[in-house]
Amino acid sequence: MSENRNFWINEEKKLDARVHQATWPGGQNALDRLAKQGKKPVRDLIQLLVDPETEFYELSRIAGFGVNYPGGIEDVPCGGLVTGIGKINGNWTMIFGNDSRVKAGTYFPITLKKHLRAQAIAEQCGLNCVYIADSGGAFLPMQADVFPDDGHFGSMFFNMARMSSQGLKQITLSTGGNTAGGAYIVFMACQSVMIDKMSYSFLGGPPLVKMATGEVISAEDLGGARVHTHTSGGADHFCSNQEEAVSRVREILSLEPPSKIHSHRYAEKPPLVSPETIYDLMPIGTHQGIDGRAIIETIADDSYFIEYKKHYAPGQGDNILTGKIRIKGIPVGVVMSNSVGIIFLEAARKAAEWIVRCSQEKIPLLFIQSAPGYMVGSESEHNGIGKYGSDMVRAVSCAQVPKIQLVIGPDNGAANYGMCGRAYKPHLLLSTMRARTGVMSGRSAAGVLLSIEEKNREVKGNPMTDEEKQTFSQAMIKKYDGEADPLYCGARLLSDRVLKFSEIRDWLAMAFEVSLLKPIGDPAFGNMRF
Ligand code: COA
Repeated sequence: MSENRNFWINEEKKLDARVHQATWPGGQNALDRLAKQGKKPVRDLIQLLVDPETEFYELSRIAGFGVNYPGGIEDVPCGGLVTGIGKINGNWTMIFGNDSRVKAGTYFPITLKKHLRAQAIAEQCGLNCVYIADSGGAFLPMQADVFPDDGHFGSMFFNMARMSSQGLKQITLSTGGNTAGGAYIVFMACQSVMIDKMSYSFLGGPPLVKMATGEVISAEDLGGARVHTHTSGGADHFCSNQEEAVSRVREILSLEPPSKIHSHRYAEKPPLVSPETIYDLMPIGTHQGIDGRAIIETIADDSYFIEYKKHYAPGQGDNILTGKIRIKGIPVGVVMSNSVGIIFLEAARKAAEWIVRCSQEKIPLLFIQSAPGYMVGSESEHNGIGKYGSDMVRAVSCAQVPKIQLVIGPDNGAANYGMCGRAYKPHLLLSTMRARTGVMSGRSAAGVLLSIEEKNREVKGNPMTDEEKQTFSQAMIKKYDGEADPLYCGARLLSDRVLKFSEIRDWLAMAFEVSLLKPIGDPAFGNMRF
């Protein structure tokens, strides 16, 4: 086994460990408690919901670790919510499921961020949504951080209403208590399914009702499945257990017209080199140069890359590779960092031109990011790197085709913008254990901050000793490198999924398929002008 492969396989074990924590909150006790309530863990329900033998592409599994909320809550495993894309009756669908094992599935700020991100993907790609609702609503000790603002609790229902008006079905399967604000997930749905003596929904639960009106009533009589399907009309389907309820959701969606992608799809061909070869190609040091062309060979059908401007400005222009590939038959335009990835103005010009060209040809774009920034220094500044870098950022901002970003190395400074970072609204942002997303590397940040601190201390007449300088630098390197780590970024939802290298091709194929469900040229893609 090569040294590189060995290293990355070990790094991915860290990811596995984190995913295990995320998917088994509360261990066996929590499972036993669910079983006593007649409930399956939410991922088992999702597996029943999606078509047999198909994969559920789970998003943001490592959200919520190290969030350090008030009250001593360090982690909210998986953000307390499972989200992901799976096929129901052959149609790609966004699926949400509260994990009631995590503080009764209540909404922390990270839970909301995850919910809203999944809704944004669904709206951008035109996916129907299924909500498996089992939530105590807002996490009350943090109500000020989750309730009143735009982007808080109300936005979930705003999104449901808007997507429903666009014809995107919003189906809720309630498997537990959905109280107060949480009740709207049931009542706002196009159709909702409730389960006898398991699902409840009310604007105020029995304790609040007693306080407000003096009425003493059980949860079942106040807002159980029977009440809402037989009396209030607030829900539409009455089922007697979870399995029946899942089948009902599949039935409700069974007459949806089959979705198709808006692209010609060629016959799929595997790469000529094994996709696993990528492990050998990834240098251990994140700032060591990569062989972009060899990496593309592990991803592209037939390992076939039609390179654009291959010979332009060698040593500078080829720090970004541009061209076309097919991924599982889907034609894709590539903008890929190469070598050490520093973006020279020649590379910026080439990339900007290519992005515009793909956009005009209605070819979706794949950005493979491993760039520590645009080239600095007087020569570069005087030759206009600021202007040419901006042209690239402008092209990325206005490109009206689906964009997917995959981060496999440094992701710093304005290179984050030019290579379609989060603010540039990629349909999916995928990361790997080699990704390092931060304003600059720890070493650079430490250097900048040290020079500021040194100056301050000199002004105060108390210059830093060598030992103080070293301690200061090390602390800054630790902080900045720690914050750039893919597990840290994934915990804060700065990526949609941290992938293993072996998963890249499958995920990219799914991502392009899903993001091409809406026709290119739809107003959602912009005004077609640069
Ligand atoms: N805010 C903060 N914490 C909450 C919460 C909320 N809205 N709802 C539940 N929790 C916490 C509980 O305190 C408990 O914490 P603990 O494990 O540290 O003791 C944990 O979540 C599990 O709750 P529990 O009541 O034991 O679970 P359950 O399965 O028996 O009942 C509910 C689930 C949702 C029916 C019930 O917790 C409930 O009615 N919660 C209040 C809902 C509400 O009024 N929400 C209004 C907000 S919009």
